[in-house]
Amino acid sequence: MDIQSRMHELVKQINQFNDAYYQNNESLISDQAFDELMLELQQLELQNPLFALPDSPTQRVGGTITKTFQSVTHQFPMLSLGNTYNEVDLREFDERIRKVLVDESFEYICELKFDGVALSFWYENGQLIKGVTRGDGTRGDDITANVKTIRSIPLQINNKQFPNSFEVRGEGFMPITSFEKINEEKIAKGDAPLANPRNAASGTFKMQDSAEVARRYMDCYIYSFLGNEIPFQTHEDGLLLLSQHGFPVSQTWKKCQHIEDVLAYITEWDEKRNNLPLNTDGIVIKINDLGQQERLGYTAKSPRWAIAYKYPSEIAHTKIESLSYQVGRTGNITPVANLQPVYLAGTVIKRASVHNANEIQRLDLHENDIVFIEKGGEIIPKITGVDLTKRKSGAQAFIFPSKCPECDGELIRLEGEANHYCINETACPPQIKGKIEHFIQRKALNIENLGVETIDLLFEKGIVKNIAEIYQLNELSFWGLEGFQQKSISNILQSIEKSKSIPFRQVLFGLGIRHVGATIAEKLVLAFHSLDKLAEATYDELIAVPEIGDRIALSILDYFSNPSQVEIIRQLREAHIQLSEEIVEIVLEGESLVGKTFVISGVFENFEREELKAKIIANGGKVVSSISSKLDYLVAGNNMGPAKLEKANQLNIKILSEEAFLKLLS
Ligand code: IVH
Repeated sequence: MDIQSRMHELVKQINQFNDAYYQNNESLISDQAFDELMLELQQLELQNPLFALPDSPTQRVGGTITKTFQSVTHQFPMLSLGNTYNEVDLREFDERIRKVLVDESFEYICELKFDGVALSFWYENGQLIKGVTRGDGTRGDDITANVKTIRSIPLQINNKQFPNSFEVRGEGFMPITSFEKINEEKIAKGDAPLANPRNAASGTFKMQDSAEVARRYMDCYIYSFLGNEIPFQTHEDGLLLLSQHGFPVSQTWKKCQHIEDVLAYITEWDEKRNNLPLNTDGIVIKINDLGQQERLGYTAKSPRWAIAYKYPSEIAHTKIESLSYQVGRTGNITPVANLQPVYLAGTVIKRASVHNANEIQRLDLHENDIVFIEKGGEIIPKITGVDLTKRKSGAQAFIFPSKCPECDGELIRLEGEANHYCINETACPPQIKGKIEHFIQRKALNIENLGVETIDLLFEKGIVKNIAEIYQLNELSFWGLEGFQQKSISNILQSIEKSKSIPFRQVLFGLGIRHVGATIAEKLVLAFHSLDKLAEATYDELIAVPEIGDRIALSILDYFSNPSQVEIIRQLREAHIQLSEEIVEIVLEGESLVGKTFVISGVFENFEREELKAKIIANGGKVVSSISSKLDYLVAGNNMGPAKLEKANQLNIKILSEEAFLKLLS
């Protein structure tokens, strides 16, 4: 089979696997076999760019960097919808329709109102050619590379029923599962979590790096079709056509004959909508017949043939019984309001985070205040205000503590940060427990058989007081503790032993240095190779590492200047934990590459990667990990990632083959 046919075959096969997976929830192939097909296709496209197909699944993994998004004019303005909040307003809408469509019968289509960001997708000759944000309704941003990562959106439509040129619109969203996963990672790093899935979605679709967008598994529901030729007469037929041909249409819509049916739909979905993969804040009611839509027409801002009904953003009010202050793994102090239990949107709320000292001040919280609580787009309940009419005279305002509520240690607030921190890192109980829990997790030392409850117990009993003491555990340590059989103890000890071979990059992440997440840990290991080197690094050396800025550098310096941390590291070393990663010995050979920076990518014939790196450094050059406009050369081996190549091309970076590199060297 020739190369071009093989590429076509791969595109077809992979697209079929993707469709089965994303549309029918069916896995027809193992992850590994799938990755191999993708890799083969990526390589062939890289070597034969002219044969690359527009609907190639490689576009889904992103890789394009967009510095500034082009502004484009919408062919049809992106309008908004009129809102209603109650039955009376809805009945008035129905009356207005009847006044225009005198004596005609008509139907409504009810849909859920999805809470994300409006997106528009342009198709020409069956191909997705542009993805655009709403912008100001007249002009939006071209975010094509980012929308192509939405796996449920077809890149190509081969169907005669669709006109040559058309547009579909829908709501792009971050599924709640992705939102929660990203926030878990942020919290693990000690970073502030994203506020809600809607903000997260609008931030994500405007990211410069589409590969990062791809990693967030964004999704979309399509709800309209536009164009100069429309191949159907009713909105219902439009939705059916779109779903038949693989567009993601939420199957929650319903045709209604009367306003009473619309009210029943509203009631039906009030509860059920809590089980969807995204937030919804209401329903949208649309006239079904396109001819009738046209006759009803538009106001300057919105169609007269449709309206939104917003579910009341659920508000409860209850009394603050007390304010407690939680201490996180990195010492950050979060005020939490303990509330008189109250029912709100399907759950009983007993506590609500007040975030930080600024928020206590903004709300002007006093003891025994009656507060309003909302759930809205935020999944976590939020205090939105105080009922001042109910405040008792003489009530005391809450004052943020000056000492840590857990260990009485000093609290500090770094410049520019909203959070207070307890600086007593190595002796504050919740910080220590949090640090041990962080240390044993899968992405860190992966001590599988040691769970959070065991850690709590061992800490309470004074058996494990820091991460290093995990390595002093033996059978006797569990003596007299309830619930530990010979077998479970030996499993724990085995997984502790196994963790001694976990690579240094995971150990570094596991240390729980504030702001050093898994990716930053990797960058630091590439730059410094060992904990000793990292501990000796100066501020300037730290910020010279890609992606390390002022905040992270200061946090690292602070960590290593703490004698208790130094002692813990000494004990980890004694326990033979990996505190370095192998590096190639470098002897200075020449100066031909002085002042030049290199990125290495791919596989080489004459060198292992580390050897090549050593060669560059030995001749005075510098190796960095990411491509930027300041880079001098990209040394490209076989099988290098297409994303890197594209970025280098965009930034006009010189690309060297292995041969060309050897020439430069000599
Ligand atoms: S139809 C003329 N259908 O609500 C506008 N919009 O306020 C026609 N939205 O910007 C829009 N779910 O982002 C429509 N099922 C749905 C929707 C929906 C959410 C959003 C959309 C639009 C906003 C209108």
